[in-house]
Amino acid sequence: MRKKMIIGNWKMNMTPNECKSYINFIKNKIDAALEDNDIILCVPSVDFIDALKCVENTKIMIGAQNIYFEKKGAFTGEISIRMIKELGINYTILGHSERRNIFSESEELINKKVRAAVENSINPIVCIGESEKQNSKFSAARFIKIQTGNVFVSINTQQAKKITIAYEPVWAIGTKSTPTLERIQEVCYEIRNNIVNLYGQLISEQIRIIYGGSVDSKNIKEIINLPDVDGVLVGSASITPEFISIVNYQKT
Ligand code: 13P
Repeated sequence: MRKKMIIGNWKMNMTPNECKSYINFIKNKIDAALEDNDIILCVPSVDFIDALKCVENTKIMIGAQNIYFEKKGAFTGEISIRMIKELGINYTILGHSERRNIFSESEELINKKVRAAVENSINPIVCIGESEKQNSKFSAARFIKIQTGNVFVSINTQQAKKITIAYEPVWAIGTKSTPTLERIQEVCYEIRNNIVNLYGQLISEQIRIIYGGSVDSKNIKEIINLPDVDGVLVGSASITPEFISIVNYQKT
């Protein structure tokens, strides 16, 4: 059975001091939920050390929001896989739509990062999803199929199992509007179906597919319980006390 994941994407929020107070505030309030779910906070890299210290002796994991695919060298402003691994970080978000749209990351670059991650035992959470313009049912399905294929270029079966796909329709991010539950299930099922075509049924059943875009304490339960949804990627609500009720969704 696929373990559910709840991932917080802090984006460019929280100074090291804010990070410490926030994690210390939430950590004891979400203990029970940690037995059944993987909880990962993807924090800005300046917060790594403090965040890791705060989650010591808990099951909360810390992840990165991005990495570069080269091992080291003249890549000003980037962080490498070796750097995060040395700290004990094993997860990173890749290909978030903000990286694609604001920082012009191409499908090819994202695939290089995904390959570098899985070759070095880092579990990438790779974001895909249609924009407002592609939001008619047919073109969104075609677009998502192409994006899924591009994520898995030159990835072998063993490596594929380390990847989590996050379906994040760009138009649902930060807008308080989500697709219908039927639509979320349909797209996540389609993504899994694309993976069946690439790696077969067995592998497709092991890969986690999660949903992101305006997840909050009111909608999480219905979304996370959809058959092909294995978790959620939470943006704005992951830096507020509401995250506690999101993580404790089973209690409501
Ligand atoms: P919101 O939860 O703020 O819509 O952001 C979603 C997101 O981009 C997570 O990666």
